[in-house]
Amino acid sequence: MTSGIRTVVFPVAGLGTRFLPATKAVPKEMLAVVDKPLIQYAVEEAVAAGAEKLVFVTGRTKNAIENHFDMAFELETELAARGKDDLLAQVEAIVPEHVSCLYVRQRKALGLGHAVLCARALVDDDYFGVILADDLIHNPASPALGQLAAVAAEREASVVSVQEVSREKTRHYGVVDTGGAEGPVQPVRGLVEKPDPADAPSNLAVVGRYVLSSRIFELLAETPPDHRGEIQLTDAMAALLEHQSMVTCRFEGKHFDAGNKLGFLQATVELGLEHAEIGPDFAAWLAQRKPARES
Ligand code: G1P
Repeated sequence: MTSGIRTVVFPVAGLGTRFLPATKAVPKEMLAVVDKPLIQYAVEEAVAAGAEKLVFVTGRTKNAIENHFDMAFELETELAARGKDDLLAQVEAIVPEHVSCLYVRQRKALGLGHAVLCARALVDDDYFGVILADDLIHNPASPALGQLAAVAAEREASVVSVQEVSREKTRHYGVVDTGGAEGPVQPVRGLVEKPDPADAPSNLAVVGRYVLSSRIFELLAETPPDHRGEIQLTDAMAALLEHQSMVTCRFEGKHFDAGNKLGFLQATVELGLEHAEIGPDFAAWLAQRKPARES
């Protein structure tokens, strides 16, 4: 396997109910952290890992995502006419020339595994990436998917990103069994989706980055829906272990669960403080801001 991931799949069909009413007409992936929508952070991470083909698994209310990655003719003409070259360059750089964006619809909300299966006809590589855009991982020096891609190339295996969470929180994640082995890269022995904390095989939670063998598609097609009626990617990955190896990657970087309000605000503060244009002013404002009870 060569280093670098050519195709990355972005499941973006979810309804974003945790962010209503903001997400009534705007896809949750289009909510902006400081000045970029979540999905653009994900796309930049994919491109940094070598992706040339971006496959978006969308739904009926997600046209804004397609528009964001398309040329905006009127806007670009206007920016050029007004001599706003910096802004024009930023808008034009959203998708580099060598990268293509493909869209496929997930017609029914049958879960993450089903969403990935919807991309099957558009993935021709032996290994491909998956990014869940609402897991924002901030590491400008070494974007997370690139870290997974390097491990995949070295181990010739599928890779799943993990981080430690409290046992109580395991109920919100896919959880990996490494047989107790620690360290940044460990063979995966099993995976369970959102276990009861008492039954969780570890406290290593799956975060939304994967490098998967294309063999996963056959297994997804055979994976039955769970008790919620959803086809889980985690279940198909557990089945993949019977045929091929998979390893964990404890990525380096700050992870924000930007799919919930608290995580989204934390990401906004963190990235706001680092922002080249507004970071210093924002830091000064935060420092002088009195807690509400003192004002
Ligand atoms: C999905 C996966 C889960 C993973 C999580 C990471 O769950 O099914 O295994 O741990 O993403 O964010 P969701 O958050 O979509 O319910």
